[in-house]
Amino acid sequence: MCGIVGYVGFRSVSDLLVEGLHRLEYRGYDSAGIAILHEGKMSVRKKAGRVLELAGILQSQPILGHAGIGHTRWATHGAATDQNSHPHLGGNGEVAIVHNGVIENYDTLRKQLTALGYVFHSQTDTEVAAHLLAHNLEEQIILGGSASDIETCLKVVELTLEKLKGTYGLGIMFRDCPDTVIAARCGSPLVIGVGKDEYFLASDASPLVGYTKEVVYLSDHEVAVLQPTGLRIDHRKTGSVFPNVHVLEQVSADIELGDYEHYMLKEIFEQPQTVENAIRGRLDSEEATSVMGGLNLTAKDLRRIDRIVLTACGTSWHAGLVGEFLLEEFARVPTEVEYASELRYRNPPMTDRTLVFAITQSGETADTLAALRECKRKGHPTLAICNTVGSTIAREADGGIYLHAGPEIGVASTKAFTSQVTVLTLLALYLGRMRHMSYPAGRRIIGQLRDMPDKISKTLQCHDKVLEVADKYFRFNNFLYLGRLYNFPVALEGALKLKEISYIHAEGYPAAEMKHGPIALVDEQTPSVFVIPRGGIYPKVVSNMEEIKARRGPVIAIACEGDTDIARVADDVIYVPDVEEYLQPLVCAIPLQLLAYHVALLRGCNVDRPRNLAKSVTVE
Ligand code: G6P
Repeated sequence: MCGIVGYVGFRSVSDLLVEGLHRLEYRGYDSAGIAILHEGKMSVRKKAGRVLELAGILQSQPILGHAGIGHTRWATHGAATDQNSHPHLGGNGEVAIVHNGVIENYDTLRKQLTALGYVFHSQTDTEVAAHLLAHNLEEQIILGGSASDIETCLKVVELTLEKLKGTYGLGIMFRDCPDTVIAARCGSPLVIGVGKDEYFLASDASPLVGYTKEVVYLSDHEVAVLQPTGLRIDHRKTGSVFPNVHVLEQVSADIELGDYEHYMLKEIFEQPQTVENAIRGRLDSEEATSVMGGLNLTAKDLRRIDRIVLTACGTSWHAGLVGEFLLEEFARVPTEVEYASELRYRNPPMTDRTLVFAITQSGETADTLAALRECKRKGHPTLAICNTVGSTIAREADGGIYLHAGPEIGVASTKAFTSQVTVLTLLALYLGRMRHMSYPAGRRIIGQLRDMPDKISKTLQCHDKVLEVADKYFRFNNFLYLGRLYNFPVALEGALKLKEISYIHAEGYPAAEMKHGPIALVDEQTPSVFVIPRGGIYPKVVSNMEEIKARRGPVIAIACEGDTDIARVADDVIYVPDVEEYLQPLVCAIPLQLLAYHVALLRGCNVDRPRNLAKSVTVE
């Protein structure tokens, strides 16, 4: 949700900032802009629309310089217009800022600053911070400070942050303080790239790839000064902080599109590999269990646990629902999956035996982070199932399990879902084998998990059939997605994928529950996608399908290969390999991802950058 970049050093900064913004565009693409400080002059270029548009402007109106900040926006306050684009200037251009987050008391501050004579040019919450900085600078100068002195500038930043309520990741430049970018964080992520005589700033590590592998993650309440001569970090309460340098694992090729037309398609096709990565080194055939090194809890601690709460948003919540079923079946531990946005304000009864897992691809989702912090505050052990190494949630959790799926760029999550489900299966096996799961049962699950990358490769062979189905149905405006047991979360996820990228109304429902409402929607114009691989209650789901057919609703079935009977009821069948019921989400989700992808393409939608959405939702 909004991406920030910054740089000080010796390189020509304009292209570098634009390249960084391209890489962060998944965080928001309502507008883009940069500010460059050169020889005492602050130059700004900004434009509503994609980073490409900004790049176009910079071609005709280039800016020179070696220090700058940039921003790609997901609008919160104020429409996606040129005026509301960042960077924003404060006062008479003494300061430029970029901001990710929400300043909750902006209305009060705006009134106060307007009364003081500051003129607002945008509807954003950010502009109040820009003017407040300018105002505090003016006051400090009256008190004897100097606009070119970094200590004065830091004092100004501190006075400003004291007044701000809400969340922010800020990149700040003072016009009279050359070769300096100041960063401040409270709730929105910031990473500093450490080079030789140069420093980079970004919302996540992707803009740094190819420039430096050494990064420092800024923590909440820290303020950093980036100058070519060095990096200084102060915690607002505890003072100077020694920069803890981490080495970035990400390699450049991870974020290349390769031969694919879209990141989403690339990421769908990466799933045999990403599921393999999630399993690698984590299966112990000897002990018939999985290896969970990062949980930082002893077997004794884990044996005490009598309840698990999984918390997440969006697709990660759907993976959590599969996790609930897995943990209850394999480990017999009562488990609930909670929307993080609800859990953060709810106060469900939880004892000291409750273990909390945050599930998140990005590790930055504001609600998930807040729910994790709330549980941590109450003293619960908090763990993360996370993809992004070094993300805030990964760092703040007491321990956890990484997905190792590589960067997911497509806004609609695909490979993260299957990796999360895989990791949750490993976790259920681990906890199950600590309780009453037998050795042979553990061995059987290990064998089945080892086969999954191959099964997923075979699943992807349904691509042509999905294309045919998409072509037949892409003009319909309402869809139902139905499944039962392990395939109910898959139905939810299939509906979400379609909604997200093709803007078609779709509802996921437990197949039998649809009789209590959604069936009223069924007619020739409302196709139902049934997730109906073989399993214990297969005949029951066939009956649900018949109920839809009886009302002339078109039916698309996701079924197991060899199931020819289903073709007599369904209008179209997409076959997937036959796997155990608990593994069905890993194969059944894939045709639904592909279906959403092709329907969206056929409707002319921007698959990787769907309207109104952002990959990383860092505001509440
Ligand atoms: C956004 C993304 C979704 C994602 C959700 C949770 O809505 O568009 O794809 O599932 O956030 O994100 P997380 O990074 O916490 O898994």
